[in-house]
Amino acid sequence: MKHFASICIAAGLLLVAGRAISQPALKETFKDRFLVGASLNESQFSGENPTAADLIRAQFDSISPENVMKWDSLQPLPGKFNFQTSDRYVSFGLENGMFIVGHTLVWHAQTPDWVFEGANGKPLDRDTLLKRMRDHIHAVVGRYRGKVKSWDVVNEALDGDGTLRTSPWRQVIGDDYIAKAFQFAHEADPAAELFYNDFGIEAGPKRDGALALIRKLKAAGVPITGVGIQEHVGLPWPSSRDVDEAITAFGRLGIKVAITELDIDVLPSRRQNVNADVNRSEAVDPALNPYAAGLPDDVQQALARRYAELFAVYLKHHGTVVRVTFWGVTDGDSWLNNWPIRGRTSYPMLFDRAGRPKPAFYAVLGLVRDDSQSGRERL
Ligand code: GLA
Repeated sequence: MKHFASICIAAGLLLVAGRAISQPALKETFKDRFLVGASLNESQFSGENPTAADLIRAQFDSISPENVMKWDSLQPLPGKFNFQTSDRYVSFGLENGMFIVGHTLVWHAQTPDWVFEGANGKPLDRDTLLKRMRDHIHAVVGRYRGKVKSWDVVNEALDGDGTLRTSPWRQVIGDDYIAKAFQFAHEADPAAELFYNDFGIEAGPKRDGALALIRKLKAAGVPITGVGIQEHVGLPWPSSRDVDEAITAFGRLGIKVAITELDIDVLPSRRQNVNADVNRSEAVDPALNPYAAGLPDDVQQALARRYAELFAVYLKHHGTVVRVTFWGVTDGDSWLNNWPIRGRTSYPMLFDRAGRPKPAFYAVLGLVRDDSQSGRERL
Protein backbone atom coordinates (compact mmCIF):
# COMPACT_ATOMS: atom_id res chain seq x y z
CA MET A 1 0.00 0.00 0.00
CA LYS A 2 2.83 2.33 0.97
CA HIS A 3 4.61 1.47 -2.29
CA PHE A 4 1.47 2.08 -4.28
CA ALA A 5 1.04 5.51 -2.68
CA SER A 6 4.59 6.54 -3.57
CA ILE A 7 3.98 5.57 -7.15
CA CYS A 8 0.76 7.55 -7.30
CA ILE A 9 2.59 10.63 -6.06
CA ALA A 10 5.11 10.33 -8.89
CA ALA A 11 2.40 9.50 -11.38
CA GLY A 12 1.73 11.35 -14.59
CA LEU A 13 -1.62 11.07 -16.32
CA LEU A 14 -1.32 9.32 -19.62
CA LEU A 15 -4.09 9.20 -22.17
CA VAL A 16 -3.96 6.08 -24.25
CA ALA A 17 -6.66 5.21 -26.73
CA GLY A 18 -9.13 7.37 -24.84
CA ARG A 19 -8.40 5.83 -21.44
CA ALA A 20 -6.69 7.73 -18.66
CA ILE A 21 -3.96 5.59 -17.16
CA SER A 22 -1.73 6.52 -14.29
CA GLN A 23 1.91 5.89 -15.03
CA PRO A 24 5.07 6.54 -13.15
CA ALA A 25 7.08 9.13 -15.02
CA LEU A 26 10.62 8.88 -16.33
CA LYS A 27 11.32 12.50 -15.39
CA GLU A 28 10.21 11.92 -11.78
CA THR A 29 12.05 8.67 -11.43
CA PHE A 30 15.38 10.11 -12.57
CA LYS A 31 14.96 13.67 -11.29
CA ASP A 32 17.81 13.45 -8.80
CA ARG A 33 20.10 11.88 -11.39
CA PHE A 34 19.67 13.50 -14.82
CA LEU A 35 17.13 15.05 -17.15
CA VAL A 36 15.18 12.69 -19.39
CA GLY A 37 14.36 14.06 -22.82
CA ALA A 38 12.83 13.25 -26.17
CA SER A 39 13.27 14.65 -29.64
CA LEU A 40 10.06 16.17 -30.96
CA ASN A 41 8.57 16.54 -34.40
CA GLU A 42 6.27 19.37 -35.40
CA SER A 43 2.99 17.51 -34.84
CA GLN A 44 3.92 16.90 -31.22
CA PHE A 45 4.49 20.53 -30.23
CA SER A 46 2.16 22.39 -32.62
CA GLY A 47 -1.12 21.24 -31.09
CA GLU A 48 -1.85 18.88 -33.99
CA ASN A 49 -1.37 15.77 -31.86
CA PRO A 50 -2.52 16.53 -28.31
CA THR A 51 -2.29 12.91 -27.14
CA ALA A 52 1.39 12.83 -28.06
CA ALA A 53 1.91 16.18 -26.34
CA ASP A 54 0.27 14.84 -23.16
CA LEU A 55 2.58 11.86 -23.12
CA ILE A 56 5.60 14.14 -23.59
CA ARG A 57 4.48 16.48 -20.80
CA ALA A 58 3.90 13.55 -18.46
CA GLN A 59 7.19 11.79 -19.07
CA PHE A 60 9.96 14.20 -20.10
CA ASP A 61 11.63 17.30 -18.68
CA SER A 62 13.92 18.03 -21.64
CA ILE A 63 13.19 18.35 -25.35
CA SER A 64 15.29 18.36 -28.52
CA PRO A 65 14.05 19.38 -31.98
CA GLU A 66 14.15 16.47 -34.42
CA ASN A 67 14.43 18.65 -37.53
CA VAL A 68 13.09 22.15 -37.04
CA MET A 69 16.37 23.76 -35.97
CA LYS A 70 18.54 22.29 -38.69
CA TRP A 71 20.01 24.77 -41.15
CA ASP A 72 17.74 23.77 -44.04
CA SER A 73 14.69 24.52 -41.87
CA LEU A 74 15.94 27.78 -40.38
CA GLN A 75 17.73 29.41 -43.29
CA PRO A 76 16.74 27.64 -46.52
CA LEU A 77 17.80 30.62 -48.65
CA PRO A 78 20.61 33.13 -47.99
CA GLY A 79 19.50 35.54 -45.28
CA LYS A 80 15.88 34.29 -45.37
CA PHE A 81 15.28 32.95 -41.91
CA ASN A 82 12.19 30.97 -41.07
CA PHE A 83 11.65 30.86 -37.33
CA GLN A 84 7.94 30.13 -37.26
CA THR A 85 8.17 26.44 -36.41
CA SER A 86 11.22 26.69 -34.18
CA ASP A 87 9.47 29.46 -32.21
CA ARG A 88 6.60 27.07 -31.53
CA TYR A 89 9.03 24.39 -30.43
CA VAL A 90 10.67 26.79 -27.96
CA SER A 91 7.27 28.04 -26.73
CA PHE A 92 6.19 24.46 -26.04
CA GLY A 93 9.28 23.95 -23.91
CA LEU A 94 8.84 27.23 -22.05
CA GLU A 95 5.12 26.66 -21.40
CA ASN A 96 5.89 23.29 -19.89
CA GLY A 97 8.96 24.31 -17.91
CA MET A 98 11.24 22.01 -19.88
CA PHE A 99 14.97 22.17 -20.50
CA ILE A 100 15.23 23.17 -24.17
CA VAL A 101 17.98 21.84 -26.41
CA GLY A 102 18.94 23.34 -29.78
CA HIS A 103 20.06 20.95 -32.51
CA THR A 104 22.16 21.55 -34.58
CA LEU A 105 24.23 24.55 -35.74
CA VAL A 106 27.00 23.15 -37.94
CA TRP A 107 26.58 19.85 -39.77
CA HIS A 108 27.35 18.50 -43.23
CA ALA A 109 23.81 17.11 -43.68
CA GLN A 110 20.45 18.93 -43.94
CA THR A 111 22.36 22.05 -44.89
CA PRO A 112 21.36 23.73 -48.17
CA ASP A 113 23.81 23.68 -51.08
CA TRP A 114 23.98 27.48 -51.26
CA VAL A 115 25.88 27.55 -47.96
CA PHE A 116 28.91 25.99 -49.67
CA GLU A 117 28.65 27.69 -53.06
CA GLY A 118 30.77 30.65 -54.21
CA ALA A 119 29.50 33.52 -56.33
CA ASN A 120 29.13 32.90 -60.11
CA GLY A 121 30.21 29.27 -59.88
CA LYS A 122 33.55 30.16 -58.25
CA PRO A 123 34.80 28.10 -55.30
CA LEU A 124 33.87 29.48 -51.92
CA ASP A 125 36.59 31.12 -49.82
CA ARG A 126 37.24 30.65 -46.08
CA ASP A 127 36.22 34.13 -44.98
CA THR A 128 32.87 34.02 -46.76
CA LEU A 129 31.97 30.64 -45.25
CA LEU A 130 33.11 31.78 -41.81
CA LYS A 131 30.87 34.82 -42.17
CA ARG A 132 27.92 32.65 -43.21
CA MET A 133 28.54 30.40 -40.23
CA ARG A 134 28.85 33.33 -37.83
CA ASP A 135 25.74 35.07 -39.17
CA HIS A 136 23.69 31.89 -38.92
CA ILE A 137 24.85 31.06 -35.41
CA HIS A 138 24.36 34.61 -34.16
CA ALA A 139 20.87 34.84 -35.64
CA VAL A 140 19.73 31.48 -34.30
CA VAL A 141 21.46 31.32 -30.90
CA GLY A 142 20.83 35.04 -30.38
CA ARG A 143 17.10 34.66 -31.00
CA TYR A 144 16.76 31.99 -28.33
CA ARG A 145 19.33 33.40 -25.92
CA GLY A 146 18.41 32.45 -22.35
CA LYS A 147 15.65 30.11 -23.59
CA VAL A 148 17.54 27.34 -25.37
CA LYS A 149 19.84 26.18 -22.60
CA SER A 150 22.08 23.84 -24.56
CA TRP A 151 23.20 23.73 -28.18
CA ASP A 152 24.60 20.89 -30.24
CA VAL A 153 27.12 23.19 -31.89
CA VAL A 154 28.95 20.83 -34.22
CA ASN A 155 27.40 17.55 -35.31
CA GLU A 156 29.35 14.53 -36.60
CA ALA A 157 32.73 16.03 -37.48
CA LEU A 158 34.50 12.67 -37.21
CA ASP A 159 34.90 9.72 -39.54
CA GLY A 160 34.78 6.10 -38.38
CA ASP A 161 38.57 5.97 -38.10
CA GLY A 162 38.62 8.91 -35.68
CA THR A 163 40.04 11.44 -38.13
CA LEU A 164 38.18 14.58 -39.10
CA ARG A 165 35.50 14.04 -41.72
CA THR A 166 36.10 15.73 -45.06
CA SER A 167 33.00 17.84 -44.75
CA PRO A 168 32.49 20.96 -46.88
CA TRP A 169 32.99 23.00 -43.69
CA ARG A 170 36.45 21.56 -43.21
CA GLN A 171 37.35 21.69 -46.88
CA VAL A 172 36.62 25.38 -47.17
CA ILE A 173 37.48 26.72 -43.71
CA GLY A 174 40.07 24.23 -42.46
CA ASP A 175 40.24 22.19 -39.25
CA ASP A 176 39.53 25.20 -37.05
CA TYR A 177 35.92 25.41 -38.27
CA ILE A 178 34.95 23.47 -35.14
CA ALA A 179 36.62 25.91 -32.75
CA LYS A 180 35.10 28.84 -34.65
CA ALA A 181 31.59 27.42 -34.38
CA PHE A 182 31.93 27.13 -30.60
CA GLN A 183 33.33 30.67 -30.35
CA PHE A 184 30.45 32.12 -32.36
CA ALA A 185 27.87 30.25 -30.28
CA HIS A 186 29.49 31.44 -27.07
CA GLU A 187 29.49 35.04 -28.29
CA ALA A 188 25.78 34.77 -29.10
CA ASP A 189 24.80 33.30 -25.70
CA PRO A 190 27.61 33.15 -23.14
CA ALA A 191 25.40 31.25 -20.69
CA ALA A 192 24.37 28.44 -23.07
CA GLU A 193 25.88 24.99 -22.72
CA LEU A 194 27.75 24.01 -25.86
CA PHE A 195 28.14 20.39 -26.99
CA TYR A 196 30.02 18.41 -29.61
CA ASN A 197 27.61 15.67 -30.80
CA ASP A 198 28.38 12.43 -32.67
CA PHE A 199 27.42 8.79 -33.16
CA GLY A 200 29.61 5.72 -32.75
CA ILE A 201 31.97 7.39 -30.24
CA GLU A 202 31.35 4.76 -27.58
CA ALA A 203 34.29 2.61 -28.65
CA GLY A 204 37.22 2.08 -30.99
CA PRO A 205 39.14 4.62 -33.05
CA LYS A 206 36.19 7.00 -33.25
CA ARG A 207 36.07 7.25 -29.47
CA ASP A 208 39.81 7.95 -29.42
CA GLY A 209 39.31 10.57 -32.12
CA ALA A 210 36.53 12.27 -30.13
CA LEU A 211 38.66 12.29 -26.99
CA ALA A 212 41.61 13.77 -28.89
CA LEU A 213 39.41 16.40 -30.54
CA ILE A 214 37.87 17.52 -27.25
CA ARG A 215 41.23 17.52 -25.48
CA LYS A 216 42.56 19.78 -28.22
CA LEU A 217 39.58 22.13 -28.09
CA LYS A 218 39.87 22.44 -24.33
CA ALA A 219 43.62 23.05 -24.47
CA ALA A 220 42.96 25.87 -26.94
CA GLY A 221 40.43 27.45 -24.55
CA VAL A 222 37.42 26.70 -26.77
CA PRO A 223 34.18 27.07 -24.74
CA ILE A 224 32.92 23.48 -24.89
CA THR A 225 30.64 22.21 -22.11
CA GLY A 226 30.34 18.61 -23.08
CA VAL A 227 30.00 15.76 -25.50
CA GLY A 228 26.77 14.37 -26.86
CA ILE A 229 26.94 10.63 -27.33
CA GLN A 230 24.09 10.10 -29.78
CA GLU A 231 23.64 6.45 -28.78
CA HIS A 232 21.91 5.12 -31.88
CA VAL A 233 22.69 1.55 -30.93
CA GLY A 234 21.73 -2.03 -31.63
CA LEU A 235 21.19 -4.97 -29.30
CA PRO A 236 24.75 -6.24 -29.53
CA TRP A 237 26.76 -3.05 -30.10
CA PRO A 238 28.26 -1.25 -28.29
CA SER A 239 28.68 -3.28 -25.12
CA SER A 240 27.59 -1.63 -21.88
CA ARG A 241 31.24 -1.85 -20.90
CA ASP A 242 32.18 0.26 -23.94
CA VAL A 243 29.59 2.84 -22.93
CA ASP A 244 30.84 2.80 -19.34
CA GLU A 245 34.44 3.28 -20.45
CA ALA A 246 33.52 6.02 -22.90
CA ILE A 247 31.62 8.03 -20.28
CA THR A 248 34.49 7.57 -17.83
CA ALA A 249 37.03 8.76 -20.41
CA PHE A 250 34.98 11.81 -21.47
CA GLY A 251 34.30 12.64 -17.82
CA ARG A 252 38.04 12.63 -17.11
CA LEU A 253 38.42 15.48 -19.59
CA GLY A 254 36.31 17.57 -17.21
CA ILE A 255 33.30 17.81 -19.51
CA LYS A 256 29.67 16.85 -19.19
CA VAL A 257 28.19 13.93 -21.08
CA ALA A 258 24.71 13.98 -22.58
CA ILE A 259 23.12 10.95 -24.18
CA THR A 260 21.46 12.86 -27.00
CA GLU A 261 19.69 10.53 -29.44
CA LEU A 262 19.07 7.22 -27.72
CA ASP A 263 17.31 4.43 -29.60
CA ILE A 264 17.91 0.69 -29.82
CA ASP A 265 17.38 -0.96 -33.19
CA VAL A 266 16.18 -4.55 -32.89
CA LEU A 267 15.86 -5.12 -36.64
CA PRO A 268 18.40 -7.21 -38.53
CA SER A 269 21.09 -5.31 -40.34
CA ARG A 270 23.22 -6.06 -43.37
CA ARG A 271 26.19 -4.92 -41.36
CA GLN A 272 27.00 -4.10 -37.78
CA ASN A 273 24.97 -1.03 -36.99
CA VAL A 274 27.77 1.26 -35.90
CA ASN A 275 27.20 3.75 -38.65
CA ALA A 276 24.25 6.09 -38.00
CA ASP A 277 25.03 8.22 -41.04
CA VAL A 278 21.73 9.75 -42.17
CA ASN A 279 22.73 9.48 -45.81
CA ARG A 280 22.98 5.68 -45.67
CA SER A 281 20.28 4.01 -47.74
CA GLU A 282 19.87 0.32 -48.51
CA ALA A 283 17.62 -1.78 -50.73
CA VAL A 284 14.28 -3.07 -49.41
CA ASP A 285 14.27 -6.77 -48.49
CA PRO A 286 11.28 -8.35 -46.68
CA ALA A 287 13.67 -10.67 -44.83
CA LEU A 288 15.06 -7.61 -43.12
CA ASN A 289 11.60 -6.54 -41.91
CA PRO A 290 10.71 -9.59 -39.80
CA TYR A 291 8.40 -8.02 -37.17
CA ALA A 292 5.87 -6.22 -39.37
CA ALA A 293 3.03 -8.11 -37.65
CA GLY A 294 4.35 -7.59 -34.12
CA LEU A 295 7.40 -7.98 -31.91
CA PRO A 296 8.00 -11.50 -30.55
CA ASP A 297 8.19 -11.68 -26.79
CA ASP A 298 11.82 -12.84 -26.69
CA VAL A 299 12.90 -9.76 -28.67
CA GLN A 300 10.70 -7.53 -26.48
CA GLN A 301 12.45 -8.94 -23.42
CA ALA A 302 15.90 -8.58 -25.01
CA LEU A 303 15.10 -4.91 -25.69
CA ALA A 304 14.04 -4.42 -22.06
CA ARG A 305 17.27 -6.01 -20.79
CA ARG A 306 19.34 -3.88 -23.15
CA TYR A 307 17.65 -0.65 -22.05
CA ALA A 308 18.14 -1.64 -18.41
CA GLU A 309 21.86 -2.33 -18.88
CA LEU A 310 22.42 1.01 -20.61
CA PHE A 311 20.47 2.95 -17.99
CA ALA A 312 22.42 1.19 -15.24
CA VAL A 313 25.57 2.68 -16.80
CA TYR A 314 24.03 6.17 -17.05
CA LEU A 315 22.95 5.96 -13.41
CA LYS A 316 26.42 4.92 -12.34
CA HIS A 317 27.75 8.08 -13.99
CA HIS A 318 25.03 10.52 -12.96
CA GLY A 319 26.66 13.87 -12.36
CA THR A 320 28.83 13.37 -15.43
CA VAL A 321 25.78 12.24 -17.42
CA VAL A 322 23.47 15.25 -17.18
CA ARG A 323 20.77 14.32 -19.67
CA VAL A 324 19.43 11.22 -21.44
CA THR A 325 17.37 12.03 -24.53
CA PHE A 326 15.49 9.52 -26.67
CA TRP A 327 15.35 10.09 -30.41
CA GLY A 328 11.57 9.98 -30.66
CA VAL A 329 8.83 9.08 -28.19
CA THR A 330 6.88 6.10 -29.58
CA ASP A 331 7.94 3.35 -31.96
CA GLY A 332 5.83 4.96 -34.66
CA ASP A 333 7.82 8.23 -34.48
CA SER A 334 11.20 6.71 -35.01
CA TRP A 335 13.42 7.44 -38.00
CA LEU A 336 14.41 3.75 -37.77
CA ASN A 337 11.17 2.83 -39.56
CA ASN A 338 12.81 4.29 -42.68
CA TRP A 339 16.54 4.07 -42.10
CA PRO A 340 18.66 2.58 -43.49
CA ILE A 341 15.86 0.71 -45.29
CA ARG A 342 12.55 2.40 -46.06
CA GLY A 343 9.17 1.12 -44.87
CA ARG A 344 10.17 -1.20 -42.04
CA THR A 345 8.39 -1.71 -38.72
CA SER A 346 10.80 -0.80 -35.99
CA TYR A 347 10.57 -1.05 -32.19
CA PRO A 348 13.37 1.09 -30.76
CA MET A 349 11.57 3.18 -28.11
CA LEU A 350 10.06 2.75 -24.62
CA PHE A 351 6.50 3.39 -25.87
CA ASP A 352 4.65 1.38 -28.51
CA ARG A 353 2.77 2.81 -31.49
CA ALA A 354 -0.30 3.52 -29.32
CA GLY A 355 1.82 5.36 -26.74
CA ARG A 356 1.65 2.48 -24.25
CA PRO A 357 4.71 1.75 -22.12
CA LYS A 358 6.62 -1.36 -23.16
CA PRO A 359 8.43 -3.80 -20.87
CA ALA A 360 11.59 -1.75 -21.52
CA PHE A 361 9.90 1.25 -19.85
CA TYR A 362 9.31 -0.71 -16.66
CA ALA A 363 12.77 -2.27 -16.81
CA VAL A 364 14.31 1.21 -16.87
CA LEU A 365 12.11 2.55 -14.05
CA GLY A 366 12.75 -0.56 -11.99
CA LEU A 367 16.44 0.35 -11.74
CA VAL A 368 15.59 3.23 -9.45
CA ARG A 369 12.36 2.21 -7.79
CA ASP A 370 12.18 -1.39 -6.69
CA ASP A 371 8.46 -0.97 -6.25
CA SER A 372 7.87 0.29 -9.78
CA GLN A 373 6.33 -3.06 -10.67
CA SER A 374 3.73 -3.14 -7.94
CA GLY A 375 1.48 -0.21 -8.83
CA ARG A 376 1.49 -0.35 -12.58
CA GLU A 377 -1.49 -1.20 -14.63
CA ARG A 378 -0.73 -4.14 -16.87
CA LEU A 379 -1.46 -3.25 -20.46
C1 GLA B 1 21.69 12.15 -36.62
C2 GLA B 1 21.34 13.60 -36.37
C3 GLA B 1 19.92 13.76 -35.98
C4 GLA B 1 19.00 12.90 -36.79
C5 GLA B 1 19.44 11.48 -36.67
C6 GLA B 1 18.54 10.54 -37.42
O1 GLA B 1 22.00 11.45 -35.53
O2 GLA B 1 22.15 14.20 -35.41
O3 GLA B 1 19.56 15.10 -36.15
O4 GLA B 1 18.97 13.32 -38.12
O5 GLA B 1 20.70 11.40 -37.24
O6 GLA B 1 17.26 10.92 -37.49
